[in-house]
Amino acid sequence: MQRRNLAKTALLTATAAALLPVAAKADMDANENVIFTADDPGHWKGVEALHVPVVTVSGSTLTVKTPHPMSEPHYIVSHSIVLADGKFLDRKTFTYKDTPVSTHMLPAGYTGPVTVTSTCNLHDFWVKSISV
Ligand SMILES: [Fe+2]
Repeated sequence: MQRRNLAKTALLTATAAALLPVAAKADMDANENVIFTADDPGHWKGVEALHVPVVTVSGSTLTVKTPHPMSEPHYIVSHSIVLADGKFLDRKTFTYKDTPVSTHMLPAGYTGPVTVTSTCNLHDFWVKSISV
């Protein structure tokens, strides 16, 4: 009988342990450790200066630079531009031989939020939001 109780206890403990991470994650920000910003570099704290895209706007031209070294094992993969309401505008992809700079034309007269992303092959997905 004691062996049966021991087995039940072990089973309940294992089940509770398996469920705890799910319960804990339900309270977490869904973007935590997926999307990184200058203010929230997550587990990549310390490398944000090399990954957060630097954005400038001149007229309708939006220029994105990521101050990241480029080498075959470690480089910036792409920049993406998204406008209000999640409307995709443009994407530029890079190889390790490129300089991670891209230019994009905003729609004529566009004002509103612009979300700029920069993706590193080792340090994931970085976002900078601006308003134009
Ligand atoms: Fe990186």
